[in-house]
Amino acid sequence: MNKTIILEKTKGHVRKTLEGEGSGHDWWHIYRVWKMSKRLARREKADMFVVELAALLHDIADWKFNKGRFDIGPKIVRAWLEKLKVDEDAIAKVCEIVKNISFKGAGVKNLIKTKEGMVVQDADRLDAMGAIGIARAFAYGGHAGRTMYDPAVKSVKHRSFAAYKNAKSGTINHFYEKLLLLKDRMNTQTAKKIAAARHKFMEQYLDHFYKEWEGRE
Ligand code: ADP
Ligand code: NI
Repeated sequence: MNKTIILEKTKGHVRKTLEGEGSGHDWWHIYRVWKMSKRLARREKADMFVVELAALLHDIADWKFNKGRFDIGPKIVRAWLEKLKVDEDAIAKVCEIVKNISFKGAGVKNLIKTKEGMVVQDADRLDAMGAIGIARAFAYGGHAGRTMYDPAVKSVKHRSFAAYKNAKSGTINHFYEKLLLLKDRMNTQTAKKIAAARHKFMEQYLDHFYKEWEGRE
């Protein structure tokens, strides 16, 4: 099977699986990460086939299975790619990216090492920033039954993935626990520039949010 057909089949499969998902990992998140990954990959001269596959498959197991089971994603991805007879080298690279892509808390080390992984991770993280990132945070907050904002609850820099995952504070705190940390965690130069603009927009948004909260604007 040639690469174009493999990518087309994968796209169809992912779209069917994630369509309508409600916690921020729907098909359109994948679509945006895929588009941005291609843009970054061209600039960074990364292996486009591996980047596209990893971008398309990076959240495939998240919707169905418990968060925290990081072994499940790569297994499902491997089975899919083996079925399509993708070569082992590419499969190993894609699985490595799927396994290590996720943000696991402010103080938790990033395990992504390849250029392809850096590109897809940057694209995934950019989608948690800016106008879309704000929309996704509130969509996720609603899905998880979180309050929008509680002025009495302070945000925390989580030292472990367990602490980050189990945090129960409002969505505004998530800005301080993840979204505003992302601009300094971009791997590639291109993503750093895009992240700076999206970061600024989130700061402006928060500024308005607090003013409106107190009836000052
Ligand atoms: P991904 O693995 O795609 O980077 P996550 O699974 O961490 O993303 O989260 C999906 C979306 O939901 C992201 O935009 C993220 O910022 C948002 N999100 C995750 N945790 C929270 C939370 N506690 N409150 C609000 N939004 C959240
Ligand atoms: Ni994602």
